[in-house]
Amino acid sequence: MPLMTSKPMFDLAYDGGFAIGAFNVNNMELAQAIVEACAKESSPCILQISKGARKYANIRFLKAIIDAAVEEYPNLPICVHCDHGDTVELIKTCISDGYTSVMIDGSHHPFEENIHLTAEAVKVAHAAGVVVEAELGMLGGIEEDVVGLDAAEYEKNVEKFLTDPQQAAEFCKRTGLDSLAVAIGTSHGAYKFKHEAKLAFGRIEEIMKTCPGIPLVMHGSSSVPQEFIDLVNKYGGAMPNAKGVPEDQISMAVRKYGVCKVNIDTDLRLAMTAKIREVFATKPAEFDPRNYLGPAREAIVGMVRRKLHVLNSAGKAETVIAHWKKLGSPMPTYYTRKKAG
Ligand code: G3H
Ligand code: 13P
Ligand code: ZN
Repeated sequence: MPLMTSKPMFDLAYDGGFAIGAFNVNNMELAQAIVEACAKESSPCILQISKGARKYANIRFLKAIIDAAVEEYPNLPICVHCDHGDTVELIKTCISDGYTSVMIDGSHHPFEENIHLTAEAVKVAHAAGVVVEAELGMLGGIEEDVVGLDAAEYEKNVEKFLTDPQQAAEFCKRTGLDSLAVAIGTSHGAYKFKHEAKLAFGRIEEIMKTCPGIPLVMHGSSSVPQEFIDLVNKYGGAMPNAKGVPEDQISMAVRKYGVCKVNIDTDLRLAMTAKIREVFATKPAEFDPRNYLGPAREAIVGMVRRKLHVLNSAGKAETVIAHWKKLGSPMPTYYTRKKAG
C-alpha cells in the first residue's frame, strides 16, 4: 500500500525535472477525480487537506474517502498532507489522523517566532515519522490580508515580501524542516496579478543555492485557464479579471529551477464550478446531483491530468514506488503501530 511521506517523491523530483502536484481535497468528487487522474497518468500525488476542508467535510468522512482511494489504487504513490497548519495542536491531531506529511505555516509571524513554532512542529512530527513543510516569506491573496495589504499594494512591493535567501538558509538549519514553501511571486486564489504575471525565477535560483538539498514548494500555483473563466462567465458567473500563473512559468520553475511541490486548488474549483454552471444553464430541469456532480468530477479529472503534464510527473509513479521500497518502505508510526496491532 504505497501511502507514504513526500520524502521518496521529493528525493527523485529534486533533480529529476519534475514536481509533485499537491491537490486540495474537500469532498468525495475531488478526491476521486484527483486519484483517477493520477492513476491514468501513472503519477505520484499529494492529497492535501486544509483546516477549512477538515471543518467542511468532517475529517472522519474525508479520511475514509482517502483510505478508500488508497485501497482502490494500490500502485499509486499517495501522500496525505495537512495544508497550512497553523498550530502544533493541529499538527498533532493530523498525525493522529494518519496524515503522512504536515505543513506548519508560521510565515505571518516574526522570524524568531516562525522558527520556534516550526522547530516545535518538526520535533513532534519527526518523532512520529511524519515530514514537515514550513513557509518563509509572504504570498499574495489570503496572506496579504493578514498584514492588511490590498492586492495592488502587494504587487507593487512584491520584492520585499519574497523569501530572503539568507534567512531561508538560517530557517532551514534552525528548524530541521523537510521542505520549504517559498514566496516567489505567486498568490492564492483566482486573482493573482493585476499587471504582468511574472515569477521571480532569480529568487528560486538563489534559494536553491543557500538551501542545498531542501525541496522547494510553490503555493498559489493555479493557472486560472482563461477557457474556464470564460465558461464560468458565459454561464452566469462573475469572475472578471481573474488571472493565474501561466503554465509555461510553472513548467519552467519545475523543469529548469527544480521546484519539487506545486500546490493547486483554485484550478480544481474552477473546473468543477464551470461544469456545474454549464449543466445548470443548459439543462435547467436537471435536479439529480449525479448529473451535475458527475460531469464536474470528469472536468476535474481533465484538469488534474493537464497539470500532471505541466509538472512533468506523468509516468513517474513506478520509479517513486521503487525508490520508496529501496528506502525500506518507510511509514509513519501511525501505520506501523496499526499493522503491529
Ligand atoms: O491555500 C489555501 C487552499 O486553497 C485551501 O483553501 O482554506 O479555503 O480550504 P481553504
Ligand atoms: P491556488 O489558490 O493557486 O490553487 O493555491 C492553492 C494552495 O496554495 C494551497 O495551499
Ligand atoms: Zn497554500
